[in-house]
Amino acid sequence: MISRRTIDRVFDLAQVDEVVGEFVNLKKRGANLLGLCPFHDEKTPSFTVSPSKGIYKCFGCGAAGNSITFLKEHENLTFPESVKWLAKKYQIEIEETEQTDEDKEQDKLRESLIILNEFARDYFVKQLYETETGQAIGLSYFKERGFTDEVIKKFQLGFTQESYDGFTKHALESKFNLKVLEQAGLTKVKEGKRFDFFRGRVQFTIHNLSGRPVAFAGRILKTDVKAPKYVNSPETEVYNKSRILYGTCFAKTAIRKEDVCFLVEGYTDVISMHQAGIENVVASSGTSLTVDQVRLIKRFTDNITILYDGDAAGIKAATRGLEIVLEQGLNVKIVLLPEGEDPDSFVRSMGATKFLEFVNENAQDFILFKASGLAEGAKNDPVKKSALITEMVETIALIRDRIKRQIYIRECSELVHMPEDLLVKEVNRVIRQKIVRKEKLGAAEALRADPTAELPARKIPKPEFTEEDEEQIEHGIVRLLLELGNWDIEEERTVAQVIISEMESVRLENDLLNKIMLEVAENLENGVELTAKHFLNHTDQRISGKAIEILHPPYELSENWFAKHQIVITERKHTYKKDFIQSLCRFKLRKVQRMLEEVQEQLKKSHENQDEASVNQLLQEFQQKRLMRDELCKIVGTVVIR
Ligand code: GTP
Ligand code: MN
Repeated sequence: MISRRTIDRVFDLAQVDEVVGEFVNLKKRGANLLGLCPFHDEKTPSFTVSPSKGIYKCFGCGAAGNSITFLKEHENLTFPESVKWLAKKYQIEIEETEQTDEDKEQDKLRESLIILNEFARDYFVKQLYETETGQAIGLSYFKERGFTDEVIKKFQLGFTQESYDGFTKHALESKFNLKVLEQAGLTKVKEGKRFDFFRGRVQFTIHNLSGRPVAFAGRILKTDVKAPKYVNSPETEVYNKSRILYGTCFAKTAIRKEDVCFLVEGYTDVISMHQAGIENVVASSGTSLTVDQVRLIKRFTDNITILYDGDAAGIKAATRGLEIVLEQGLNVKIVLLPEGEDPDSFVRSMGATKFLEFVNENAQDFILFKASGLAEGAKNDPVKKSALITEMVETIALIRDRIKRQIYIRECSELVHMPEDLLVKEVNRVIRQKIVRKEKLGAAEALRADPTAELPARKIPKPEFTEEDEEQIEHGIVRLLLELGNWDIEEERTVAQVIISEMESVRLENDLLNKIMLEVAENLENGVELTAKHFLNHTDQRISGKAIEILHPPYELSENWFAKHQIVITERKHTYKKDFIQSLCRFKLRKVQRMLEEVQEQLKKSHENQDEASVNQLLQEFQQKRLMRDELCKIVGTVVIR
């Protein structure tokens, strides 16, 4: 393996322009370099390299990345090969790491923890079957719960005595190291005294995916003490709670075969269902699901069915953490068991066939389940309803499959009586927001964290849009009008025509700019296209002054000048549409923002007057305007802080 240090050094020294420059003919263009894109066929250069940012980007085909990505894409190298290529170019010595001593130490520790757990497991099992108290208390408890010997053995259930340090002593005598015993959480040391962590409990062995014991849970049997019902081994090198689901090693084959994973809360639920012959079941052990756990399930199936208590707490537990499941692209169904029943008691009283029948009949799609619950709660409350829509929309936005999303939107729109297209837009807004947020986290940071990561194809948004930009926005519009007024922007429509029609009935704040626009508009109506020259030489000196102000940087447009600066022209030809859209959208954004504020004001009033009809109407209007605003924000690369 190439050492991290080597990779860091390579990244420090590699210059993207030098790397790309080995393969592409680059010409300096301001702070950047420009060349013909090697990733697609082009005659005019749109492939840009930014040395300061360390990236390249093609405005033609969207290819983008850093030095490593370039080598991977252009030369078909792997990541290590790319690093080696760069190391050679920059004469960096490559450190190849064998397993470090530290790594070896880690491996040894992991192995010794597992071996100790195996020892403990055997001990606990023995206590259950071969001691008097074990049989009288532990085994009879399991039997009372209806567990068969077969299943008790399969799950490696055990027992711990009330005794103070029976296990610890036995382990030390068997040459186990006290330090490892402590690390595994099996032995506690207090004031120089050693005692067993698990005492007077029935023991559940927690296995890793390959079936080796990595931790234990002990269930208390006494009912009169205040101690917690379950105690668990601490997290160790081999036991990461967020990565393990109880029962996975016994369930994985069945999950694959049935193509669905039942998710329950408790250890005993898993065991009882197994005993009944339903083996595709794992337990979250009473906590909310983590990403790693979901990924674990996803290795075996895309379908999760959650079996929880039908009471309020059960529902809450069931819906907690489920966003993760959706985000990972799994299909989630939920089955609420009759109140007071958990899968353990229910499967025991019903038997497997009836149990599965119940599950099939009562499985509800998770999102619709959530939506209908929310809809019920928000029936006559517009404020709640708006929150409901937001929540529903955010949930749907987590689904990666577009077709699936559409189906959900359709169903939900009926549930909450909202127009489908409005929900579609809202969902898209949330999705976009997430993309923007991710991009904001920064291409730079992403690259630092993972040099192999692909750069986001889209531009990172610029800083916030402020009111001070207003004059610039108006300048931008009029500059376009004058500079590029007669260029085509749409089929058979010029820039000027589009702007003027968009600006209809809109007054520019700046009086002079407004005058210019009106003059252009009037002439356009008579079929006359006024040029920049007209305004630069305007009889009204204030207007010609303004025209100079807005036209003088950045471009002076004369046909001759263009001819001499071929590149600038091509560049401009590439970008003027974008400029146009940018300016126009900025302008519209300002307008929409104002309308939004107005609607908000009205909404407040209507709400105070308890005018429900008007509140509902304004809410819709508000959402629509907000969509428009966000759409515009996206285009101008601005983020509005909410
Ligand atoms: P029984 O009561 O024997 O049926 O156990 P159960 O597994 O059904 O327990 P319950 O439904 O109360 O809780 C579900 C799961 O939450 C358990 O299996 C444990 O993983 C976890 N749990 C419950 N109580 C505790 C506790 O006091 N401490 C810890 N660490 N976990 C608990
Ligand atoms: Mn239970």
